[in-house]
Amino acid sequence: MALFSSRNVKFLILSVCVFVTSLVSANFYNELDVTWGDGRGKILDNGNLLTLSLDKVSGSGFQSRNEYLFGKIDMQLKLVPGNSAGTVTVYYLSSTGSNWDEIDFEFLGNLSGDPYIVHTNVFTQGKGNREQQFYLWFGPTADFHTYSILWNPQLILFSVDGAPIRQFKNEESKGVPEEVVPFPKNQPMRIYSSLWNADDWATRGGLVKTDWSQAPFTASYRNFNAEACVVVSGTSTSCGTGGSASGNTAWLSEVLDSSEQENLKWVQKNYMVYNYCSDSKRFPEGYPPEYNIG
Ligand SMILES: *[C@@H]1O[C@H](CO)[C@@H](O)[C@H](O)[C@H]1NC(C)=O
Repeated sequence: MALFSSRNVKFLILSVCVFVTSLVSANFYNELDVTWGDGRGKILDNGNLLTLSLDKVSGSGFQSRNEYLFGKIDMQLKLVPGNSAGTVTVYYLSSTGSNWDEIDFEFLGNLSGDPYIVHTNVFTQGKGNREQQFYLWFGPTADFHTYSILWNPQLILFSVDGAPIRQFKNEESKGVPEEVVPFPKNQPMRIYSSLWNADDWATRGGLVKTDWSQAPFTASYRNFNAEACVVVSGTSTSCGTGGSASGNTAWLSEVLDSSEQENLKWVQKNYMVYNYCSDSKRFPEGYPPEYNIG
């Protein structure tokens, strides 16, 4: 994404794990900063609600104050209702620099009554091209639903309302050389989100344009919860050993068991609308290596 500078950030980061207990959702005032949009992004309701809006002049966005090196991050989103065609709500984790890592959820709006597409991608060492897209099994605009990213040393897992929809496994841990399928494991990432106009490609490949008479478009966020390793520069505690004793670290070693694998296959069979791995036109010289391994 164009948001990143090409500066190649290379510095030693020492991290400390801070485990946010799940009893109370984190307050947006403490966790996030609205970074652009000139007042179109707002933290409301004593820090329990955040809204981003988009009109013809501008979209808006926020980012997390903390940087994370692994985490289980939940956010509830209520997507732009009504005719949201042409709008895109992106919600992702990303590091900086030209070899950045990134874990993306993007929500592609649609005409009233037509389905949103959930677009996912994983960038490692600055390379993406790993798109998978899904329809949802509910209307995502009537109420809040939970979108989660689990990122631990074994895998990256995308879940919706607790149901895994995609996993990207760490093949390195199975002996596949790093150059073949690198896994994000040492660049801390921040959470970013924004709502913007993408009517050149988002809805039916760009055929349906944004109807500005419906503006402003608004997406809402609540119940942010991060059980994560928060990077604190200059501290010598390593991830996994610091933090509060009450923190639950089970997520750090979480992998899918066989029944969860079956559920994942079921979702992929019934709701996946695009998979880069089966796009033979796009990869005439052979599928991406993780496809053959995975
Ligand atoms: C929008 O609706 C059309 C028609 O049902 C569908 O083909 C398309 O996948 C939907 N989503 C997007 C983002 O275009």
